Amino acid sequence: MMTQRPPKPAPKRRPRPPAPEVRRFEANVVEGLEAIARRELSVHLDRRVTLHRLPKAGVAPGAFRFDYAGGLRALLRMRTVQAIYMVRFYAIPRPRALLGDQAFRALLEDIALVRAAHPPQAFRTFFISAAGENTAVMKRLRTALAEATGLSEGFEEGDLLLRVRRPLDGREGWEVLLRISPRPLATRSWRVCDMEGALNATVAHAMVLMTDPRPYDIFLNIGCGSGTFLVERLLAGPARRVLGCDTNPEALACARENLAAAGYTQVAELHDWDARRLPLEDGSVDALCADLPFGHLVGSHADNVTLYPALLTEAARVARPGTLFALITHEVRLMQSLLSESTVWRPVNEQRIALGGLNPRIFVLQRI
Ligand SMILES: C[S@@+](CC[C@H](N)C(=O)[O-])C[C@H]1O[C@@H](n2cnc3c(N)ncnc32)[C@H](O)[C@@H]1O
Repeated sequence: MMTQRPPKPAPKRRPRPPAPEVRRFEANVVEGLEAIARRELSVHLDRRVTLHRLPKAGVAPGAFRFDYAGGLRALLRMRTVQAIYMVRFYAIPRPRALLGDQAFRALLEDIALVRAAHPPQAFRTFFISAAGENTAVMKRLRTALAEATGLSEGFEEGDLLLRVRRPLDGREGWEVLLRISPRPLATRSWRVCDMEGALNATVAHAMVLMTDPRPYDIFLNIGCGSGTFLVERLLAGPARRVLGCDTNPEALACARENLAAAGYTQVAELHDWDARRLPLEDGSVDALCADLPFGHLVGSHADNVTLYPALLTEAARVARPGTLFALITHEVRLMQSLLSESTVWRPVNEQRIALGGLNPRIFVLQRI
């Protein structure tokens, strides 16, 4: 007689991990770099990020919002944004209500989340930026925050920066924006030597991305100054060679310090070459970046009239056909006139940005 086997127990289903909470963020970028910063976020954060459409009511120029469901550490790796804030809307009539039980608990939860993304001692001070910073209510809020977080009050800009403001889209209530890093993301820890005229690192990073970096590239930065492009190129990914040249020995010394701080002494090459006469073979370079003397802090307008054409000609000689060259300058007319006559460089993009009260342009050129 056949014995019947007992039925197999149904396989135990593993409980699904809870879906990460979707939170709202605001990114601050150099005006004009919104598109490239949005691309960086979508490439690196993939499906976890939903970008709000641009232009979006409620956000000032140079800023955009997004919803994101994932760890904050991934956001801290974004390199084309100046700063990222976690945004929470409070349906409250006035800031005093932030001291209410529910609102204050939500605020502390957000603060704990931000602090948990960093080493324990990263935040020591906090600062609240708000209209009416010195009102009695703000003072009470500061006292309550100091007590609950153990942080002391900072001046002007604390490690933990909170901005309390009305939503710009006109909704009734208040928003608290909490910066997710103790310093703006644009403040790079590798910058141990600062040079007058050094380029904002987020702009340099965006320009590196505009050259479509690949691991087999020979990358050249003419007029490398303090080495901003060299570090940012290596942060964007490996390269076959990364070369920087400058005629100013002080600039090269500064670049050396910054490269050492970034841990790139062995991988980047610094040279005292004049970029008008490069000891490189024809067609030997795959990508180029330059932050040409604007003629204000560095160089002069009169010199630029002869310097720029010489640099463009020599860069074209060393660039292989198809090479992308991203350069930034404030000499817009001079550049446009040189490019209109160029038979070696084809302009593929021109982007105006807002930087330190000036409106320089980024030109992306392709070697014909
Ligand atoms: C605006 S600064 C570059 C700043 C740099 N991007 C940084 O972040 O520090 C321009 C640099 O071009 C260099 N330069 C000017 N003429 C040059 C030339 N003919 N060859 C090489 N470098 C040159 C200057 O010495 C200066 O360091």
